Order: sequence, then structure tokens, then C-alpha cells
Amino acid sequence: MAKAAAQSFTCTSCGAAHGKWAGRCDACGAWNSIVEEAPLSAGPATKTLGAAKGKRIALTTLATEETPPARAASGMEELDRVLGGGLVPASAILVGGDPGIGKSTLLLQAAASFARAGLSCLYISGEEASAQVRMRAGRLGLADAPVSLAAETNLRDILTTLDAARPDLVIIDSIQTMWADHVEAAPGSVSQVRAAAHELVTFAKRRGSAVILVGHVTKEGQIAGPRVVEHMVDTVLYFEGERGHQFRILRAVKNRFGPADEIGVFEMTGGGLAEVANPSALFLSERGQSSPGSAVFAGIEGTRPVLTEIQALVAPSPLGTPRRTVVGLDSGRLSTILAVLEARCGIPFAGLDVFLNVAGGMRVSEPAADLAVAAALLSAREDVALPPDMVVFGEISLSGALRPVGQAENRLKEARKLGFSQAVAPDRSKIDGDDGIRVRKMPDLVTFVGEMFAAG
Ligand code: TYD
Ligand code: MG
Repeated sequence: MAKAAAQSFTCTSCGAAHGKWAGRCDACGAWNSIVEEAPLSAGPATKTLGAAKGKRIALTTLATEETPPARAASGMEELDRVLGGGLVPASAILVGGDPGIGKSTLLLQAAASFARAGLSCLYISGEEASAQVRMRAGRLGLADAPVSLAAETNLRDILTTLDAARPDLVIIDSIQTMWADHVEAAPGSVSQVRAAAHELVTFAKRRGSAVILVGHVTKEGQIAGPRVVEHMVDTVLYFEGERGHQFRILRAVKNRFGPADEIGVFEMTGGGLAEVANPSALFLSERGQSSPGSAVFAGIEGTRPVLTEIQALVAPSPLGTPRRTVVGLDSGRLSTILAVLEARCGIPFAGLDVFLNVAGGMRVSEPAADLAVAAALLSAREDVALPPDMVVFGEISLSGALRPVGQAENRLKEARKLGFSQAVAPDRSKIDGDDGIRVRKMPDLVTFVGEMFAAG
């Protein structure tokens, strides 16, 4: 007990509790992320229960028949898919993203779509005045959508209003601006955000409303303050994209009511976010004549195949420690692939700067991209362009062997749809039918290098 009360410092990056302030969190290594907060025992959710008896809980069995949750579709298909097929009543959803990435725009459009589909929707802005939100709605052509609007940050007032209004959907923009008067801390602090999220999630469960919380992300890529919020909600969606690009991707990183890893793709336009039904075509549309350093990766995002272009540039380095710059991929993965190329294929990258990029602002996290990364690197290094009608996929193991990856058929089908006629895939890939695409199966990276870059 005494110990818990002493833990009054929390890392805003990983949520770890500390006994004293420190410049660096030893749990996650983040700098300057530790803030003081009221001891946990003073928080609303952790008051002791006391001796009073509760009521008995009705127990069921695993075989109990449960009707699947009735979902409400917004008609924005990219959004509905990421939600797992529509909005589930009584669910709590967190939408995270960098400031300015387009969260408010997305959610205002979502509110209007759900409202037009017959749901009662309430949009509460803690960041903008009602007039500003109305102006945005006008710009987006949504002024006539039956959405109730309020600009408020006082949580007590909001909950009282919600209890009376009982809307089907509430959008809180953003959770960092909410202020609960029973917590002595500034808005945006860990304890405020945690208390506000707890109250709003409880409201969702109690009243059967769906609640969408907007959360800003810190530059380390976490929802500012509380990762705690991620645990409290049913669904966590990230809205992401490169600032200079017009594509925005809504990605499910956690979903109790649907598959995680699902993505919805949007394009920013003057009139708001437009849905992109065929992302592969869009990501590849910037691709000009086939040039050295470019490889097309046939990937899977959630339930959908998506083709992306991986670009590499390899140049002699003036630096003692050559540069390794990666955008849209894991930099650790690049190091591994470079090491495998050097150790297993005898192709050194020492003394060479390496730049790697996924075109269009897409982010790829599948290990299946390994072979496409290696192909782009080799193509750049040898200055040999790969065939323009070829897609590549496969995981590279440390031994240099190519490992088969899931959904090979779906990847090929998408590639053929977009006009590709050949593919390189690992041996043992499960490919039954003839997809009208010529597949070259290879056992390892050495074979790949030999066949594709024999002249180099
Ligand atoms: P906004 O939705 O306010 O971002 P966030 O809520 O994540 O901070 O959008 C930021 C700016 O981008 C805003 O000035 C509007 C503009 N924008 C467009 O012009 N078109 C679009 O499709 C989107 C998404 C945003
Ligand atoms: Mg906003």
C-alpha cells in the first residue's frame, strides 16, 4: 500500500510507474517522458472496494448462444472494413495520429456518414470552436448531415449531456483536451487522460453507445501520454501517412471485433478525404519507366493484397560510417538484409550509402517484403533494372534461404489484375492454380542473385 502511494511518477511513453523523477525511463528508454501524477490510489478507478458485499454475477458457459453484434455501416467502405465490418454498439474506439494528419476531418466525415445512415451522432470538439467545425463541415459539403455538435472540454458536463441524449455514436476530439474535475492535474496529463478515457469507456458500456476517442501521437509514435488508453478501448486505429503525400492510411492495430492489421486507404483532396478502393493502382501510379533500384512488392495488408514499390539508392559514401536511411520500412530489417547479402552472397555494402523508401508514403511491416528489399538494393547497386512487369515476395532467413509466406495466391491474383506477368517467389510457396502469371520459384538468395543479376 505504502509502495503504491509512493509511485507518483509515470512514463508517458510506456506507462511504467517510477518512484522518483528521472530524465530517462529505464523501462522503455524514452527521454523526458516521465511526469508526476496523483498516486494511483487517488484515481477514480482504483479506490478500494471496502467491505460491502457485491451482488452475485450470473455465470454462463462457453457454449452459450450469442448473437453476433449488430454492426452499423457508415457507407465509407474503407472505414467500415477497418472497423471489422462496421461500428459495434457499446464499443470504444481510439483513433490515434500525428497532429495535422487529418483525424478531425476523417471523423467529421465519419460522423456525417453514420448520421446519414440513420445513427444519432454527437461530435464533441475540445480543440475547435463550434463555428470552426461548422466551417469545416461546410467545406466538406456535410453541412446538411444531422450531426449534433458541441465544443466542450468539461467531462462532467459532457457525461451529463450524453446520459440524457443517449446517442448511438459519440466522437470526442480529442481525449487530451478533456478535463475531469475530480482529478487534480492539467488536461493532457496522464491522470487526466486516463480518468477521462475510463469515464467515457464506462459510459459506452453502460449506455450501449459507441464512443470514438481521438488521441494525438507523440513523435515517438505513441498515443500521447497514456498507452493505458490503448488497453481500455476495444479498438485502436492509427491514422498515418507522410506529410508530403496525399495518401492517408487508417490502420487497425487492435480490434476486439475484427481483424487487426486491416487498412483503409484515403486520398486527401480539397473536399476532404476520398476513399481509395484500389490502393495498388494508386501506389504504383507514380511509377514511371522501370529504372534501377525499383522493385514491386506484392504484399498483404489485413485481408487485402496491396502492391507497393520499394525504391533503393546505393551510392559511394563520403562518410566513415555510411548512411542507412529508411522510410516506410523497419531499419533493423534493412541491416539484417544487408548483412545476409554480404555474408551469404558475398555482396558487400561497406563504404556505400543506402537509401530505402516505400513509394507513396506507405509503411510495410511484413517480413514478406524482404526479398523485394533485397531485389531493390541489388538492382540499385548493380545498376540493373528489374523487369518492369515483375513482382517479388518472400521472407529471407539469416541463412540466406527464402521462406514461403502466406496468401501467395492472393498476391499473384492482385499482381495479375494490375498487369504484371511474372513473379519471383520462394520455393515451397503454395501456388496451385495457373494465375496467368509466370512464377519463378527460388530456394535461396544466392539463386536469386545468380538468375537476376548474372551479368553484373
Ligand atoms: P485535421 O483534420 O485538422 O487534422 P488533425 O485533426 O489530425 O489535427 O486536418 C489538418 C489540415 O489538413 C486541415 O487544415 C485540413 C487539411 N485537410 C485537407 O485540406 N484535406 C483533407 O482531405 C484532409 C484530411 C485535411
Ligand atoms: Mg484535430
